Amino acid sequence: MSKILAAVAWPYANGPRHIGHVSGFGVPSDVFARYQRMIGNDVLMVSGSDEHGTAIQVQADREGLTPQQTADKYHSIICEELQQLGLTYDLFTRTTTNNHCEVVQELFRALHANGYVVPHKGMGAISPSTGRTLPDRYIEGTCPLCKSEDARGDQCNSCGKQLDPIDLINPRSSLDGEVPEFVETEHFFLDLPALAQTLRTWLDTRQDWRPNVLNFSLELLKDLKPRGITRDLDWGIRVPIDGWRDNPMKSIYVWFDAVIGYLSASIEWALRQGDPQAWREWWQNPEAQSYYFLGKDNITFHSVIWPGILLGANGQGDRGGEPSTFGELNLPTEVVSSEFLMMGGGKFSTSYNRVIYVRDFLKEFGPDALRYYIAVAGPENTDTVFTWEEFVRRINTELANEWGNLVNRSISMAHKNNGVIPTPGELTEIDTRVLDTARQGFEVVGDLLSKAKFKAAITEAMRVASAANRYLSETEPWKLKDNPTRRDTVLHTTLQVVSDVNTMLTPFLPHACQKVYEALGGTGVWAAQPEIRHVSEDGQDPYPILTGDYDSQLAFWKSIPVEVGRVLNKPEPLFPKLDESLGETGPSWAPISVDG
Ligand code: MF3
Ligand code: ZN
Repeated sequence: MSKILAAVAWPYANGPRHIGHVSGFGVPSDVFARYQRMIGNDVLMVSGSDEHGTAIQVQADREGLTPQQTADKYHSIICEELQQLGLTYDLFTRTTTNNHCEVVQELFRALHANGYVVPHKGMGAISPSTGRTLPDRYIEGTCPLCKSEDARGDQCNSCGKQLDPIDLINPRSSLDGEVPEFVETEHFFLDLPALAQTLRTWLDTRQDWRPNVLNFSLELLKDLKPRGITRDLDWGIRVPIDGWRDNPMKSIYVWFDAVIGYLSASIEWALRQGDPQAWREWWQNPEAQSYYFLGKDNITFHSVIWPGILLGANGQGDRGGEPSTFGELNLPTEVVSSEFLMMGGGKFSTSYNRVIYVRDFLKEFGPDALRYYIAVAGPENTDTVFTWEEFVRRINTELANEWGNLVNRSISMAHKNNGVIPTPGELTEIDTRVLDTARQGFEVVGDLLSKAKFKAAITEAMRVASAANRYLSETEPWKLKDNPTRRDTVLHTTLQVVSDVNTMLTPFLPHACQKVYEALGGTGVWAAQPEIRHVSEDGQDPYPILTGDYDSQLAFWKSIPVEVGRVLNKPEPLFPKLDESLGETGPSWAPISVDG
């Protein structure tokens, strides 16, 4: 049994989530975590709302709220959305806890003490009209390197290079179009060049990452510059260094604070378990593995900056040093990044009305339809356009026709004829062949899932479902009234394969799989679901978290023989067919517009 850390990117608490967000970090991480639990590994899945920084500040200004009120509002909305989608976090918390603040400050302190965080005076952008600092990502302009007009102050979206806002050609504020002014300001920088060598040595051992992530990360290492990790902003964690600590206008950069959330959330989880040291098993045991799930705009922060922070805080860069009070911490085993889910030719965004909100989607189609679509047709390896037409086609021809129909006709037939799982007679070659296909499925699908190849994995699982459908058409049990022994053998065989496919689909379709399990006569929790609880830190206001009891679920990654005589329940239709016209118009809450 291995310890597996499933570290899931932290969504900004600045609005409800759209399906682009959950296709990047949400569904892939949950499918992976569920599979790992089913093979008996000890999974710790953590994340939370990313509540600091300008993204929240800007939204607060828009709504006339304080940043804390904004974070409270959206943290609770996001908890509900992720819970409804069935994402099995051991802890989904938030970055405004005292615990998080303390952990961040300790790593900052350790990096500073080890010499990897150094102060530096530079030029910062301010808005001439308000006098407020203008964050890097709100400055747009032309990339000085590739001349693309799609560059932001922090990085160029075309060539992917790290930028400094002052180097942009024709800089302007994306908030109001103003031309920023540059004034002198002092900040702390993470000295990435002093960590470059150890970063490279580590990255060279990571050959089995997805090529998109590995190549992008290797490219970043060629040109590492010190990176600013404080900001002129009051909304954030105070800088724990003498002379800075009491300055309310300086805070730690949101990205520095957010990635440390993986550690602070693990520590909070352990505290809430009543076993404060329990997190160490996932962070210090050299056998433990950690998988980080995110969208591609987060790669830099997870494959370079976060490992850099860890190495520096461990005292493992060119300048050596002492480990932080937490001790030496593990680096990521793998950074699993997806690409972008696009809509009408652009990255999902809340502007231009190109947005499909998770909550609207779930209300109309339920969690498993979205999970299925993202797993089978999501942006796993390349930018992928979401279309309602493809959604309708996938749900109708695959989920409804192949899987739903197989479940429905096989269990209904046995329910009507026998009422229970029938006793098989002697198996013929065609029976053993389909049973073998299912049994081999566990190995094939499992191998793909362990490599985070979700698309291929679900396709293989669905292939077994198709084999079962073919088996039914060839054996035609409905014509075997005069040969009940043969009919029962065929039905028993089919139900076994249905049960096996159901197991293989459980990481993807945990809600539907629970129903199939019950229709096959199972009782108890087959696939556990997350729940919202309200907790607090001593004396503070309660806040919602996501957590769950996943250890007691019954789903395991193996063929479980269906039990002769077990009473069947008539299945309800699993996936109702969608109206074809939906593919042309879209739903009323996200209509397809003519101008795209
Ligand atoms: N909030 C960031 C985003 O939505 C992701 C932060 S991931 C973290 O892009 F790990 F750094 F928290
Ligand atoms: Zn560029």
